Amino acid sequence: MNNNKGGYTFRQIANMYDISLTKNAFYAYEDKGSIPSAERITKGKTQVRAWSIADLPLIGEKLGYLKKPSSTQIVSFFTQKGGTGKTPLAFQFARTLALHNIKVLVIGLDSQETITNILRGSQETDSLPENIDDLYDDGLFEIFKKNVSLEDAIQNTDLKTLQFIPENAGLAALETDLNHSADPLNVMEKFFFSPLKKLNQFDYIICDCNPSWGRIINSVLASSDLLVSPLKCDASTLTTTKTFFGLLADFEKDLEYKGVNIQKFVIPTLLENNKLSRQVLSYYETRFSNICANTPLKKTVTIDEAQILQLSVLEYLPNSPIYKDLISVFKEITDVIAFLNGEDEPSKDTKDSKNKKEELLQA
Ligand SMILES: Nc1ncnc2c1ncn2[C@@H]1O[C@H](COP(=O)(O)OP(=O)(O)OP(=O)(O)O)[C@@H](O)[C@H]1O
Ligand SMILES: [Mg+2]
Repeated sequence: MNNNKGGYTFRQIANMYDISLTKNAFYAYEDKGSIPSAERITKGKTQVRAWSIADLPLIGEKLGYLKKPSSTQIVSFFTQKGGTGKTPLAFQFARTLALHNIKVLVIGLDSQETITNILRGSQETDSLPENIDDLYDDGLFEIFKKNVSLEDAIQNTDLKTLQFIPENAGLAALETDLNHSADPLNVMEKFFFSPLKKLNQFDYIICDCNPSWGRIINSVLASSDLLVSPLKCDASTLTTTKTFFGLLADFEKDLEYKGVNIQKFVIPTLLENNKLSRQVLSYYETRFSNICANTPLKKTVTIDEAQILQLSVLEYLPNSPIYKDLISVFKEITDVIAFLNGEDEPSKDTKDSKNKKEELLQA
């Protein structure tokens, strides 16, 4: 999966983790044992230090730009519009956190299995297994109804710090089942999030939602610490945004009795270099000024290219302009989380973060 077989050099790692140290200062961390030791690779007449993919999370933890939260945080990517970037950003955020040694569990909530397919890679084979059931991975429905344990449903990736619960067609059965539940809003908390938190294995639980409201989504939102809504900078997303935030406000009223308040963060995505796209961006920035990312994400093929290789842009193309923008957006999300948890330590370079977060709480 890692496309860098030769290992990562100081220069590459400095780009990946936004590190402004000199090479000598970075090497000193290795000499002191503060980061894993590198392999010495001979290039021409010189020796170069190169770190493996397995070393990256520890380097990220020590010198990167994302910090662990003090308790498990549930972040849900949801907008009531297809194709706005929920899945790619949920995947990018999850893998980037994992590369900072932050333990992440991704929960796919779209029966099209998009994020599951990205995380586990294509499973295409030339023949069917003897038992067709072997093609089916247990997921939320099987945990809820068939006594499958969380531990058995959780799957691994090539990074120890990144795991996932697969999506499957059982999500539709779970949705129907919730119609008969006495307290559907509490189901996700009771059967999944609370037991997951008790496992004490995850810093972040990241939910990639499908674009329509339903009982599962309601229950997920009721438990989320932060709702992240990627909004595409085009006219049709703009027109659905009004309905979306209207429905969200109604839903929040329904939740008032529980004392739950949904914290929101909006990311303008797929910004194009034309007048309409910029006008939509400016609408989002004005309408959502207190909860809008400072950096809009431009339309790019880099996110797709990285995703096909199951990689974060951090690994795939850390020199790219979109990566600089992703760094800024991801820092903002973790800053907001830290602020909401009373740990107000804005990361370097996050402009206006404190003011914005104070406004955010009043939103
Ligand atoms: N700046 C960007 N931000 C997010 N996605 C982008 C960006 N630029 C290009 N893309 C591409 O736009 C597409 C949007 O992703 P996708 O359609 O999976 O979004 P989604 O909101 O998860 O959709 P769905 O509602 O169908 O689940 C992807 O192919 C992604 O790589
Ligand atoms: Mg999606």
